[in-house]
Amino acid sequence: DKGEYKHYMLKEIYEQPKVVHAAMEGRLGKDSVLEQAFGTGAAEIFDQVRQVQIVACGTSYHAGLIARYWIEDLAGIPCMVEVASEFRYRKVVLPPGTLFVSISQSGETADTLAALREVRDRVLASLAICNVPGSSLVRESDLCLMTNAGPEIGVASTKAFTTQLVALLLTTLVLGRRHGLAPETEARIVDELKQLPALLERVLSLDPAIEKMSQAFAEKQHALFLGRGTLNPVAMEGALKLKEISYIHAEAYAAGELKHGPLALVDKDMPVVTVAPRNEMLDKLKANLQEVKARGGELFVFAGCSDEVLPEEGVQVLELPPVPGILEPIVYTLPLQLLSYHVAVLKGTDVDQPRNLAKSVTVE
Ligand code: M6R
Repeated sequence: DKGEYKHYMLKEIYEQPKVVHAAMEGRLGKDSVLEQAFGTGAAEIFDQVRQVQIVACGTSYHAGLIARYWIEDLAGIPCMVEVASEFRYRKVVLPPGTLFVSISQSGETADTLAALREVRDRVLASLAICNVPGSSLVRESDLCLMTNAGPEIGVASTKAFTTQLVALLLTTLVLGRRHGLAPETEARIVDELKQLPALLERVLSLDPAIEKMSQAFAEKQHALFLGRGTLNPVAMEGALKLKEISYIHAEAYAAGELKHGPLALVDKDMPVVTVAPRNEMLDKLKANLQEVKARGGELFVFAGCSDEVLPEEGVQVLELPPVPGILEPIVYTLPLQLLSYHVAVLKGTDVDQPRNLAKSVTVE
């Protein structure tokens, strides 16, 4: 039931404060992650993990790309991420101590499931990050961490993604504590995670401003999305959302790649969306934005501090509340979901059931 909402997608976007809470409920102690959440025998398995191989498709793959930054940064162990349709068909090297992590909303995605079946005898263990209890992926993996997002009806994945990120952050912490992550750091992140639902509520209150911004996109044929660090996969996810529900061609780039090619596309008809929290990469990102400005590109910036980001003509800046660095990719995803939602509504597409797409891709 959509209740007061016009579409399931909008309802699911608005459910995120509640479901990210569900994704951590019962899994956090006062200042640490509780390992029981991962199933019996989890602790013994985690003790032996030396690297992580993540496999997923689509939006779930983007969650995996963000987790790579976290795992290498906080646990200091190698993490590889690959789309399942490539991974399953090539000869992959899996060093001893590899934890195979699959990420899937449905738990039935054909390529993801096939990848698991392909390698399960060659890895230390498999962990499924999944939203559907009893799904094939959950049944066939050694460990699982349910994302608890509840049923997701809209084909465009929204709450499934942000809850996957919460689950992946919990996974990062249990791996990290075995590889020198300071208990104080874990305690700080646990504390920050507990603030996440309230932060997401604040971002949702920006919806009217985002809806207004969306008008600039309705007539456009193309859009570019830029980010750096964990915000690069967020930009990829923003571009995927825009293309799948509004049918506008959108591409994402790591902002530093701009001058290696895509800058040639930038002109007044190419809106450029940027996620720019106030972090150590902001100065670099600002230089990239200047490059866009200089070519007449129209900029839409979701920023941590609007004063710092070119408040001038041709630049629309929307300021988000201050966000702990680790939560940036989760929080900055919401404005991009809302932006593509409103663009699709303006264009009159079938938001919940975009053409040519299925919710669960059970054939390759
Ligand atoms: O159920 P899964 O998470 O395995 O599905 C993978 C992709 O098909 C899915 O994430 C898809 O990209 C999204 N629905 C796009 O919004």
